[in-house]
Amino acid sequence: MTKPNLACYSPGLAGIPVVESSISYIDGEKGLLEYRGIHIETLAEQSSFEETAYLLIYGKLPTRAELDAFDAELRHHRRIKFRIRDVMKQYPEHAHPMDALQANVAILGMFYPLPRLLNGGYDEATVRDVVVKAIAKLPTLVAAHARMRAGDDPIPPRDDLSHAANFYYMLTGEEPDALVARILDVALIVHAEHTMNASTFAMLVAASTGADPFTCISAAIGALSGPRHGGANEAVLKMLDEIGTVDRAESYIEEKLAKKERIPGLGHRIYKTKDPRATLLQRLYAELMEKEGPDPTYEIARRIEELTRETLGKKGVWPNVDFYSGIIYRRLGIPTDLFTPIFAIARVAGWLAHWREQLGRLRIFRPTQIYTGTHGAPYVPMEERGA
Ligand code: COA
Repeated sequence: MTKPNLACYSPGLAGIPVVESSISYIDGEKGLLEYRGIHIETLAEQSSFEETAYLLIYGKLPTRAELDAFDAELRHHRRIKFRIRDVMKQYPEHAHPMDALQANVAILGMFYPLPRLLNGGYDEATVRDVVVKAIAKLPTLVAAHARMRAGDDPIPPRDDLSHAANFYYMLTGEEPDALVARILDVALIVHAEHTMNASTFAMLVAASTGADPFTCISAAIGALSGPRHGGANEAVLKMLDEIGTVDRAESYIEEKLAKKERIPGLGHRIYKTKDPRATLLQRLYAELMEKEGPDPTYEIARRIEELTRETLGKKGVWPNVDFYSGIIYRRLGIPTDLFTPIFAIARVAGWLAHWREQLGRLRIFRPTQIYTGTHGAPYVPMEERGA
């Protein structure tokens, strides 16, 4: 057995590179996030989720013809088979949408077996097929489950709407106006990729064994479902509801900090300044409030940001993407437990980009451990083990 390299031991693999990648880049000190070298602010202003997904996966901005073809394929593959809807009917009413999504994506793998090359890999046409089916069908799976758990029929996708607008339509039955569609589109763009995080790593660990890509995405969704990865925006809303009014924010925060408790939505392992994604979402939300009126919950969040700027800001603890995203989703009428599935709908682009980048390059992940147990222990007969 390989001897563990104790000098490299890093709980959570913090700081240990596991792949070489050219997909995204973060500078946590400067608050910089780039996809394929392009600033996230530029993409949020000028791109769409569909184009950003293409950029992440194929490594370049598409030409008009390439984007049109990709977009047309996505629209074409939005539908899900009635058998998959039938399976969903059997899920318990209380099933968490992330659990349902994880199961549904694994089910996709059964419905779409993929031809493999002799070396066990996939050719580019099969990769394209997976990319399109996964990105196109995840929103339909999320929306269909959300409606069916409430006893409603799923709303079939519409081919004339953008990826983000169609998701909103399938969820609510209403076509979003241009601003709401844009807000959702930007939310998908800013969540689409974020270097080597837990869910992306889970995707690659599964991929390194040669597991089929739907199984790998299902593994990534499982990793994303944990509250320390995908669920912080739910915790932010809970806190804001608990505070209730702006004038109570100061005493609430003081008390939390005195007890050395963490304030959800603040701080990030990598960003030591304000998360650029939080700034982008906040800016768009300001537009919505201008149009549709103020939001008292948002005012509480802003007050918290103001109150913690001096104290926590000095320690590099600033609002992260989750601080404002939940507030926005709620204003759009999206149920809280769908926040993380929306994250998955976006992040599947990043997962697939990493999967494609590593195809044929991955060595099976087989780290080691530092064994702290005993050796040659006796097998004590049951009758001698005590009560
Ligand atoms: N509220 C209050 N204090 C916080 C804080 C928060 N949200 N996040 C970090 N701090 C403080 C710590 O108490 C510590 O203070 P100290 O040096 O006086 O002991 C200091 O900032 C550094 O904390 P540390 O745990 O080393 O930071 P980290 O980079 O390892 O942690 C997180 C990053 C995300 C785990 C952490 O900021 C956190 O728990 N945030 C809240 C949960 C959240 O929003 N998660 C979603 C992230 S996208």
